[in-house]
Amino acid sequence: MLFAAILGWNVASNEKQAFFRLTDVRYEVAADLRHRICFMRNSILELNIAPEFEMDAICCRNVLMQFRYEVQLEVLDVLAKCLKPNGLLLIAPGEPMSWKHLLMSRSTNRTAQAYTRNSNNS
Ligand SMILES: C[S@@+](CC[C@H](N)C(=O)[O-])C[C@H]1O[C@@H](n2cnc3c(N)ncnc32)[C@H](O)[C@@H]1O
Repeated sequence: MLFAAILGWNVASNEKQAFFRLTDVRYEVAADLRHRICFMRNSILELNIAPEFEMDAICCRNVLMQFRYEVQLEVLDVLAKCLKPNGLLLIAPGEPMSWKHLLMSRSTNRTAQAYTRNSNNS
């Protein structure tokens, strides 16, 4: 998986060094991290009919904005259920600000839209 060099703008240099390798003009996820990530192709609109997931983290930035607001909320509800207890969900600032879910707690850090799945499933 390759990321444009624009990644360099908002990732600290020690994190870039630890988690990425600079190829010609792009960043590649470092091998030891890559081997701990499950890559798959799937439509985010079909996760509710796919096998059950238990993810540690979901980063879903600038994807929801392509869908109608009601669909965005439905997708977020499904993503919440795909996380392990204490799992992290990141969406972009400005994406459904009003979303709330019984399983999720919003981070108090207002520079990101981050949610954590409650450890007790409630
Ligand atoms: C604006 S780009 C954002 C890419 C990246 N997340 C970022 O922030 O730079 C939107 C992405 O949504 C993906 N996308 C669109 N519809 C999708 C769907 N139904 N399921 C999964 N991904 C989808 C596109 O392939 C595209 O990569």
